[in-house]
Amino acid sequence: MPASAVIGLQWGDEGKGKVIDCLAADADLVVRYAGGNNAGHTVYVDDQKFVLHLIPGGILHHGKKNLIGRGVVLNLEALLEEIDGLVARGVPVEERLLLDGRAHLIFPYHTKMDGLTEKWRGDGRIGTTGRGIGPAYADKVSRTGIRLSDVLDADLFRERLSAAMAEKTAVMEKVYGEKLADDADLFERTRAQVARLQDLIVDGGAYVRAAADEGQTILFEGAQGVMLDLDAGTYPYVTSSWTGIAGISGGTGFPPNRLDRALAVTKAYCTRVGEGPFPTELHCDTGQRLRDQGNEYGATTGRPRRCGWFDAVQARYSCASNGLDGIFLTNLDVLSGFESVGVGVGYRLPCGTEVTDYPGELSTLEGIEPLVKEMPGWQEDITAANSIEDLPQSCRDYVAFLEEQMGVPVISISVGPGREQMFHCPQGAEV
Ligand code: IMP
Repeated sequence: MPASAVIGLQWGDEGKGKVIDCLAADADLVVRYAGGNNAGHTVYVDDQKFVLHLIPGGILHHGKKNLIGRGVVLNLEALLEEIDGLVARGVPVEERLLLDGRAHLIFPYHTKMDGLTEKWRGDGRIGTTGRGIGPAYADKVSRTGIRLSDVLDADLFRERLSAAMAEKTAVMEKVYGEKLADDADLFERTRAQVARLQDLIVDGGAYVRAAADEGQTILFEGAQGVMLDLDAGTYPYVTSSWTGIAGISGGTGFPPNRLDRALAVTKAYCTRVGEGPFPTELHCDTGQRLRDQGNEYGATTGRPRRCGWFDAVQARYSCASNGLDGIFLTNLDVLSGFESVGVGVGYRLPCGTEVTDYPGELSTLEGIEPLVKEMPGWQEDITAANSIEDLPQSCRDYVAFLEEQMGVPVISISVGPGREQMFHCPQGAEV
């Protein structure tokens, strides 16, 4: 398929890194369109672990181009650190990477503001990654942001940076009673960083449209997940970008009607980091067991992830609102050894009504009780499975049930972190 997209179906951390790495093998161009270095995509190549925060997953593949689109917010220090780390491990990043000049930058005052606003929110904090993502997008929307290409024009950049710093200094002092640390060389430092990256800067929209015109295979790489989308997610406990399929067009300049295939990745259970509603969360030993078996600790912040059963109500909502063609089911191996496994199939609202659609109101979501269907578990180690026929019957029944609930075919299943621990399901789960 010439233009495909892969997004996260849940609250991020679904294992997109591995799926994108696998699909990137057949792509010519891989494009990130949203988020920033709040993401952490983990890939294992020949037992070597790579965690990518900003750079698209095609970077580990020979001959692929990788574009950071205009919808991404770029922390230049983090980007250069990531580039240097990959180069030190033998990856020729500068041959493979391109940056859209329209991407907005994250400055140290954004990171500082992220911490201050979280502190200000107190018990209502979002539990952000602390990377300055929200404040950078807020500046973009309020038109005080600074784009990568702006830095190339010294006069323009000086003017915009001093206006932004004056505003941040005033807000920090007057609202938060904090001083913005003296950073006299921010202008020169940023100019030097951009000088290093200058040859990689392109008009991303024009680039990706031209690639499509030439018949190149393009893969759009989502970050985070649908439930963290600014509009579709559990607002305000979301990130500040459009994480779903709808984010692709705005975040890259690629017309929506040219996307051929929309795919998503979901874990066989649910996790979430940060605050916010999580209907099927398990607060008991079973939740801890999922965390231990799945090694559920954040790739970016190291925070323990909240764990719970697969939520079919949430998954159905995410599938429907993104018009998906297929699902990659990951971490199925983590469920081995449980006597029974649960699936959230509905919610009981505080008023006693039972629903099977995802409610939009925060107050409703916070008071609901999940209706959980228990299914027989399986004891077998499935990490060497190569096809759906290799899975124990109760495991196949579980996957078939998830597929039926989502209404979208499961096209691939992952049973471990390695590149080879993933197989296709040509006819979906119900063979
Ligand atoms: P922010 O994106 O740092 O502003 O964080 C907003 C919310 O999104 C917090 O709950 C974060 O934990 C969550 N979040 C952001 N990026 C990721 C991710 O890559 N995986 C999982 N959660 C994320």
